[in-house]
Amino acid sequence: MNREDFPLLKQDIIYFDNSATSLKPKCVIDKIADYYTNYSANAHRGDYDLSFKVDQEYEQTRTLVKDFLNAKSLEEIIFTSGTTESLNMIAHGFFEDLLEPNDEILLTTSEHASNVLPWFRLANKLGVKINYIPLDDNYYVTLDNLKKVVTPQTKVISLAGITNVIGDKRPIKEITEYAHAHNIFVVVDAAQMIPHMRVDVSDLDVDFLAFSGHKICGPTGVGVLYGKKELLEHLEPTNLGGGMNESFDSPDQVYLKPLPTRLEAGTPNIAGVIGLGEAIKYIESIGYTKINDQVHNLRKYLISKLLPIKYIDIINLESDSGIIAFNVSNIFSQDIAYYLNKYNICVRAGNHCAKILKNAVGVTNTVRISLYFYNTYEEIDNLVELLSDYDKIVKEMI
Ligand SMILES: Cc1ncc(COP(=O)(O)O)c(C=O)c1O
Repeated sequence: MNREDFPLLKQDIIYFDNSATSLKPKCVIDKIADYYTNYSANAHRGDYDLSFKVDQEYEQTRTLVKDFLNAKSLEEIIFTSGTTESLNMIAHGFFEDLLEPNDEILLTTSEHASNVLPWFRLANKLGVKINYIPLDDNYYVTLDNLKKVVTPQTKVISLAGITNVIGDKRPIKEITEYAHAHNIFVVVDAAQMIPHMRVDVSDLDVDFLAFSGHKICGPTGVGVLYGKKELLEHLEPTNLGGGMNESFDSPDQVYLKPLPTRLEAGTPNIAGVIGLGEAIKYIESIGYTKINDQVHNLRKYLISKLLPIKYIDIINLESDSGIIAFNVSNIFSQDIAYYLNKYNICVRAGNHCAKILKNAVGVTNTVRISLYFYNTYEEIDNLVELLSDYDKIVKEMI
């Protein structure tokens, strides 16, 4: 579906690593080239037409993101370098001042490093505790399991909307309802959620949410931090510098600009932000229904083809995204990736940055296929054919 939009697909390549990053359509590439070719001035600084055009395009993306997420105001949309930076800003800039020793942060064991390490740092610095919501037999989070571990000390729940190894979707709306009734903040890592489902922050009522542009056909190095305005007002900027200050004369006379500029110090990734706007328009023009129908059907097809292969162990028969994680009996996952690469098939192998998940799943590494709407049944047939011959794998993997 829509393969002709992606220049990279003209190469003899099968790309199954979409959870790491998606491919970029020509409209996004052209939009970025247009900025660098025709109006590459700085943002929010110049008093000339070229600079005015930059501001218009940059701020238009903010409006697009606001509508895309159904946020209440433009001040709630902060451009960052991606999910990782957004989550670090939330942990460091908001919760570091708020949490006290013995407060508890609830995570899950299937979180990405970006949603674990910033909280570990707070634990080490402040003496707050990290607890985990137990996963069910399919590695899913349920509200019942969450309730079992919430205590009067729980102050934050931070979890992915969809995870990057299992691809399971979390019941975010139910979690925020329960959490808010117990005065607990909810932070959502939407890096894998945004490519696969509409995220309505007002309906979900999340306090903070983070995502990256590059996983929804946008450029790398740009992402979004969403926060409720009344909370963002209390988020200390990690970076201080140009663009975000009103005036400064001495250390005790520093006056910062209002949101959202206050949290976007320095020259931003202008081309990235403008490209992200185009990516959002592109995704909207296809629509999540079509995207998900295609991904779901492809996944079902791949599972049906892998299941009969006796030496293949699929870790996540259930998933809400395009992820299939598996292992081939007695063969290291990276060797499988190396073998497939010989046939121009790109897959991911390893622990996928979810290093504490191994304790829950009982396997350290997996091969991960992550599908997106531009993958095809023929590509899957090619993959399955290569995986169907164990002797060939063993012979060719080194
Ligand atoms: C669930 C999840 N969270 C966070 C990240 C980090 O995203 P980024 O590297 O774009 O900051 C990823 C990236 O793979 C992810 O899958």
